[in-house]
Amino acid sequence: MRYLRLALPKQAGRARPPYAKGLKRAMYACVCRAVTESEINECIAAGAKSAKQIRDATGAGSDCAICIRRICAMLKRNTELAAAS
Ligand code: FES
Repeated sequence: MRYLRLALPKQAGRARPPYAKGLKRAMYACVCRAVTESEINECIAAGAKSAKQIRDATGAGSDCAICIRRICAMLKRNTELAAAS
């Protein structure tokens, strides 16, 4: 019986793959619309006060709406941080 051997490069630990070098890591807040947390934070910093305003600006939450809770939590966290400072 013959086995197929894959020629994968050895990686130490959780090293980033070669194609990912130079790319910024992005945490997606909205997977459907590919909107990252940093984009939402920029939107909040620009003055967005509600999930609807963020949706209108970025499109996040306009598909399946699973991300709305996360967006609301980000809004709440930012308002708490603004109130604390
Ligand atoms: S994850 Fe944001 S609309 Fe689906």
